[in-house]
Amino acid sequence: MDIKIYDKLAQKYDLATKIVSFGIEELWRWMFKRGIKKYIKNGMLLDVASATGEMARAMDFDKMYLVEPSSEMVKVIVEKFEKKGYKKKDFEVVFEESPHIKMKKGEKEVVIIQNTAENVKLPEKVDLITAFMALRNFDDLQKGIKNLDSNLKNGGIFAIVEMVKSDSLFAKFILWYMNNIVPLIAGIFTGMKQEYKLLGKSIDSLKEEDILKNFKNYKIIKKQKLIFPIATMIIMRKDGENS
Ligand SMILES: C[S@@+](CC[C@H](N)C(=O)[O-])C[C@H]1O[C@@H](n2cnc3c(N)ncnc32)[C@H](O)[C@@H]1O
Repeated sequence: MDIKIYDKLAQKYDLATKIVSFGIEELWRWMFKRGIKKYIKNGMLLDVASATGEMARAMDFDKMYLVEPSSEMVKVIVEKFEKKGYKKKDFEVVFEESPHIKMKKGEKEVVIIQNTAENVKLPEKVDLITAFMALRNFDDLQKGIKNLDSNLKNGGIFAIVEMVKSDSLFAKFILWYMNNIVPLIAGIFTGMKQEYKLLGKSIDSLKEEDILKNFKNYKIIKKQKLIFPIATMIIMRKDGENS
């Protein structure tokens, strides 16, 4: 995905998303969090394709790594955690040459890393990976998942919400809405009609089986369509090393 689009969108992303999804994306995020917390309540989290950091903020784990390639999105994430009382600890260029910003609030720590799913390497393995509307943005899905997997502990959880290809009439309508109406509405609020057209196109490109074939070393512990049934939540437990 072209990161420049997300750079341009960063400051308006939350508002534009609320408007074009009629708040549904927030409901999905809430359902996702509730679904995950049945299996894991706290620990170390890697949230990938964090955008403005809403998923990590909702999870509120004691230690969180947020991985986001857009520098403008990273700025928004930092501002939001500052508003939550987190203070910047330091800024260094480490972790295999990807810039990261550490922030702390009491015992809680967030590390915001400007990098991609395909390339990020953490200094430790995490208990949970969250990918909320993230996978379809990866440049190389297979490489991205394989690399994320290498940052997850054995027995750890990989949780996904994604809009995937579907033949249902309703899904087709939503796709039409994303391709034709969203660019118009979002264009008014952000001045980025063409960019929203591109974002709409990427939704049609992912099939559920194309996602799952990259998770051979995982057991699905929960799979559920979210309302409306155009997004799927998949929660999996890692059961051995990736082959
Ligand atoms: C639809 S947003 C994700 C929504 C976000 N997870 C949330 O909770 O609001 C997609 C994000 O993916 C990021 N992205 C694009 N290419 C990526 C890649 N290769 N690896 C990780 N993130 C990527 C974009 O910069 C953008 O912020």
